[in-house]
Amino acid sequence: MTKTVKRVLSGMRPTGKLHLGHHLGAIANWLKLQDNPAYECYFMIADWHALSTVFAQTESLKENIREVALDYLASGLNPEKVTFYVQSHIPAIAQLHILYSMITPTSWLLRVPTYKGQIQELGEEIDSYGFLGYPLLQACDIMAFRAELVPVGQDQLPHLELCREMLRRFHFLYKTEIFPEPQGLLTQAPMVPGTDGRKMSKSYGNSLYLSEPLEDIKKKLGKMYTDPAKIYKGDPGHPDQCSVHYFLNAYHPEEAKAMKAECLTGALGCVACKGKLFEILTQVLTPLQERRAELAQKPGLVEDVLEAGARKANLVAEETLRMAKEAMKIA
Ligand code: TRP
Repeated sequence: MTKTVKRVLSGMRPTGKLHLGHHLGAIANWLKLQDNPAYECYFMIADWHALSTVFAQTESLKENIREVALDYLASGLNPEKVTFYVQSHIPAIAQLHILYSMITPTSWLLRVPTYKGQIQELGEEIDSYGFLGYPLLQACDIMAFRAELVPVGQDQLPHLELCREMLRRFHFLYKTEIFPEPQGLLTQAPMVPGTDGRKMSKSYGNSLYLSEPLEDIKKKLGKMYTDPAKIYKGDPGHPDQCSVHYFLNAYHPEEAKAMKAECLTGALGCVACKGKLFEILTQVLTPLQERRAELAQKPGLVEDVLEAGARKANLVAEETLRMAKEAMKIA
């Protein structure tokens, strides 16, 4: 019988509560994959990856892992259908990373475009050994599960390219084929805008969070950037460049279509438009927030889910590690 089920792997760094950028950019995609019987999904919380930049502020890491896990569950990711786990609960990933670090030319890591880009953005102080190895660790996340599909944003494609190059090198050196070549599965929403029109990101302070009280969301919507060319209510707008329209379209495309026509003629003002978006977000977020509050109250629930996930994930990753060691002829 041919194997038809494909392994899917993705992950996020636990930077805190998830925002609408994560929801539309990643989780919406993961939810579709979890319900497709052609896929066996592994979704992880990449805490070691978080350490590559926040090594000096570790006190919130545990809490952040819990927040991400709660957001995963509240969004509808179902631990009966997918395996989700914390990266550091899977020691085989770290061992595979050590083995791979021996055969990875530093020049290959130095030329990964995110390396120089991130240093420029975040400053020299993150220029560590672990930070240089970030994409290799990510490659090991993927290879430990022999995953074939990796749902990610465009910015992560160079990391997948490195993963493929590294596994080819392993196969060449040790004359065994262990790892399938993973392909990226690009998300539908490559760039979710924040309230200021730039990419939604915690570090920009422009995010709307899944678990944020609706009153706060309402205030943020009030100040949200729309179309700078639409100054008066009657001016025609440019919905394709407007963040408010972006979210209307993402969460309620039919409504957005009708409103777009009215915005283009100038009949629809931004205040009314934001009011509609608030209604739609209320419908999306209320059930999610209710579920989240319920889950958060159950003692040990998150820990149990993550422990069960780690048990399943460890079986696969340990098997891969055994195969890799055998290929390398080491104990
Ligand atoms: N680097 C990814 C990001 O910043 C997170 C990540 C870590 C990841 N390990 C992964 C994504 C493995 C996909 C597969 O978004």
